[in-house]
Amino acid sequence: MAFTEPASQWGIMIRFEHVTKRYEDGTTAVDDLSFEVADGELVTLVGPSGCGKTTTMKMVNRLIEPTEGRIFLDGDDISAIDPVQLRRRIGYVIQQVGLFPHKTVLENTATVPHLLGWKRGKGKERAAELLDLVGLDPSVYGGRYPEQLSGGQRQRVGVARALAADPPVLLMDEPFGAVDPVVRERLQNEFLKLQAQVRKTVLFVTHDIEEAVRLGDRIAVYGQGRIEQFDTPATVLGAPATPYVADFVGADRGLKRLSVTPVEESDLDQPPVVHLDDPLATATERLRADGARWAVVLDGQDNLHGWIPAGDAATAKGTVREHARRMEAWLPLGAPLKQAFATMLQHDAGWIAVIDEEGTGRFLGVLTPARLHEALRRSIDADAQDVPRAEVAVETVAGVGA
Ligand SMILES: Nc1ncnc2c1ncn2[C@@H]1O[C@H](COP(=O)(O)OP(=O)(O)O)[C@@H](O)[C@H]1O
Ligand SMILES: [Mg+2]
Repeated sequence: MAFTEPASQWGIMIRFEHVTKRYEDGTTAVDDLSFEVADGELVTLVGPSGCGKTTTMKMVNRLIEPTEGRIFLDGDDISAIDPVQLRRRIGYVIQQVGLFPHKTVLENTATVPHLLGWKRGKGKERAAELLDLVGLDPSVYGGRYPEQLSGGQRQRVGVARALAADPPVLLMDEPFGAVDPVVRERLQNEFLKLQAQVRKTVLFVTHDIEEAVRLGDRIAVYGQGRIEQFDTPATVLGAPATPYVADFVGADRGLKRLSVTPVEESDLDQPPVVHLDDPLATATERLRADGARWAVVLDGQDNLHGWIPAGDAATAKGTVREHARRMEAWLPLGAPLKQAFATMLQHDAGWIAVIDEEGTGRFLGVLTPARLHEALRRSIDADAQDVPRAEVAVETVAGVGA
């Protein structure tokens, strides 16, 4: 198995040592599995249905006992820990959240603190804090019952409840699998923000490679009962370890990279720029000097207004203002390349304007198809080397044989 060690400055929180699980009917669900997860690391377990992901996860909180091998939690062999004690150190989130229907959202969230014997007030206070953290205003949702929530909101409550006793480890088994794709993406983004704050050690099961790539610090790609590759998303996508992994991540992995690579300032070209109140003669001059076929038009605050083609600038009199065309293809800096590509296609545009991500509208430059392709290449190369994208030089587009 291809295996990258977790970052060594962190301690190891979860360790599997030659773990095998054979069910009574003879099914080998997990076969001689060894891996480590660092403290604060989010590892996604991804693979097709039936490959042993849930079995792996349930062995961590002893809902299932291994047939062979040992599992350690923060250095302790879990077979020596009372399961009830063990589960207090491990939050668990599943697809069928299993909220108590007759308890309010606040009470549901406070379940574990309550079981742990926290004072009522303290438990509720903590629950309210957690609801806030997962984006549910406790004063609005705290008093509701689960059936009064959407599917996405129920999943948020499930996450809040799992975090309520502040366990160091979270196990999440396809937690966002039952919600629609739009809500799902929102939950994923929220969860990433949350994880950046709470830094739990997370094992996250999914059958969706896209979800695995988006969320994982590292990904364990499962074959039948075994891990075929355990590495960063970029390496799994850019350098699949086996034909099986290559097949699983799919031929469209360039497309997947598009969705995880942001537009950066260094990707932008600087076309000639004119202002609304410039005389057309100035625009003509500038375009000619650059040999360009169009210029970007900015307003007095240097915000994007539109563009003007060289033909217009050359033939007419007056100011740029009367001839400027509206710009429909634009993006904020930091948007994924995928969105840039979609915008180009949607507006049939040879280039798109990129503006300040803070929404001030300040014009930063333009992204062309050639630069988009370069950015994608650089992203794949950089991630294979695990360095920031901007530090990797790439050959020109012509040079990479496009
Ligand atoms: N209680 C069980 N008894 C027998 N076989 C089981 C049991 N639970 C799971 N399995 C089998 O073990 C394999 C792995 O299952 P599971 O860990 O649930 O996979 P995944 O979560 O990746 O879909 C499958 O072949 C499944 O049918
Ligand atoms: Mg499963």
